[in-house]
Amino acid sequence: MFNMIKMGYSRQLNGANIIQLPKNLDRRGNLSVVEEITNIPFEIKRTYWIYDVPGGAVRGGHAYRNNEEFIVALSGSFDVVLDNGLSRTTYSLNRSYYGLYVPKGVWRQMVNFSTNSLALIMASIPFDPSDYIYNYEHFKELSNKELGSNIS
Ligand code: TYD
Repeated sequence: MFNMIKMGYSRQLNGANIIQLPKNLDRRGNLSVVEEITNIPFEIKRTYWIYDVPGGAVRGGHAYRNNEEFIVALSGSFDVVLDNGLSRTTYSLNRSYYGLYVPKGVWRQMVNFSTNSLALIMASIPFDPSDYIYNYEHFKELSNKELGSNIS
């Protein structure tokens, strides 16, 4: 099982946290890596990326019932705003050697994309439209019921 203590994983909003990735420093250029279970607490079933984001655009604005994600700013910077229905935390991503673990059952938005930013997202389940919760009030109701066990 994923070793939270070994990974420097502390309990933040529902277990969301910044995870540092291995960094191979090299005069020829640096290299970082993500391995499922070893570096992030889930098996990777899907990878997608967000790019060519126009200034001021907001991505996300939904929660997942089951999907967990790990988000890396491969290039440029952006903020990820997480909300568990009770409190809200903003995580700034601007380096390619760390990322944000986003647990299931958390409302998330991605904002403040810099020019030419590139967001890489690893996901724990295949794409499933029925996994999305798009209505914030509905999300809050669910947070208090079926997703309630995730709220710290
Ligand atoms: P969406 O998840 O709403 O993007 P974001 O949360 O970044 O705003 O997805 C945008 C569109 O892309 C939507 O029509 C569904 C589609 N999509 C896929 O087909 N496969 C995927 O894995 C993802 C994440 C999205």
